[in-house]
Amino acid sequence: MIRISPSVLSADFTRLGEEIRASEQGGCDRFHIDVMDGHFVPNISMGPFVVEAVRSITKLPLETHLMIDRPERYVDTFIRAGADVVIVHQENTPHLHRIVQQVREQGIQIGVALNPGTPAHTLDEVIDELDLVLVMSVNPGFSGQKFIASTLPKMRLLRDTITRKGLACDLEVDGGVNADTAPQIAAAGVNVLVAATAIYKHPQGIAAGIRELRDRAAAQGVRV
Ligand code: DX5
Ligand code: ZN
Repeated sequence: MIRISPSVLSADFTRLGEEIRASEQGGCDRFHIDVMDGHFVPNISMGPFVVEAVRSITKLPLETHLMIDRPERYVDTFIRAGADVVIVHQENTPHLHRIVQQVREQGIQIGVALNPGTPAHTLDEVIDELDLVLVMSVNPGFSGQKFIASTLPKMRLLRDTITRKGLACDLEVDGGVNADTAPQIAAAGVNVLVAATAIYKHPQGIAAGIRELRDRAAAQGVRV
């Protein structure tokens, strides 16, 4: 089944609680919180206080997408703030294997993200230990960017690896996911869609944005 993970980066922050509730009522499956430090990516967004605030108003799983240098310094802080899934980038730590262990030891799910220019095979040595692989389909830092179609073969490759090895690992995509791109993404074997603009800026509202993504993905997707 396709799962939808709204990225609150494009929510209305003056009404964050209402936006979260509307997303839940619209049938989303989890929430995606983008953490940016102005170093790893050219933008600064939110930190553990926002994760804590979101945690206090939803029971759905929270994934924290850490776009920060050396995330090992902050992993425990985000876990304490209520993260259920910690996502780090392959590119932002020299000790990927260590951080995977660090998160798993605490019984929290670990995901690793790959920027558009990073090949799938860089995860060969850790993929057996992962709960999630996140294929970035934009260069991270901002919502509202255009989907980079050259990331589709990487999604197919990762789905093949996950299937061949029989892993219980989600395959997620983030960046430029909308009604037009969702079918190709689902057809490439992705089972979790992250979206900010397509949900929080949908002309008919949040629930319509979630429903549209789910319908469009299901139309051409594979069931995993
Ligand atoms: C990009 C973030 C995304 C972003 C997606 O750096 O990681 O989660 O919010 O935004 P859209 O869906 O608008 O491309
Ligand atoms: Zn993200």
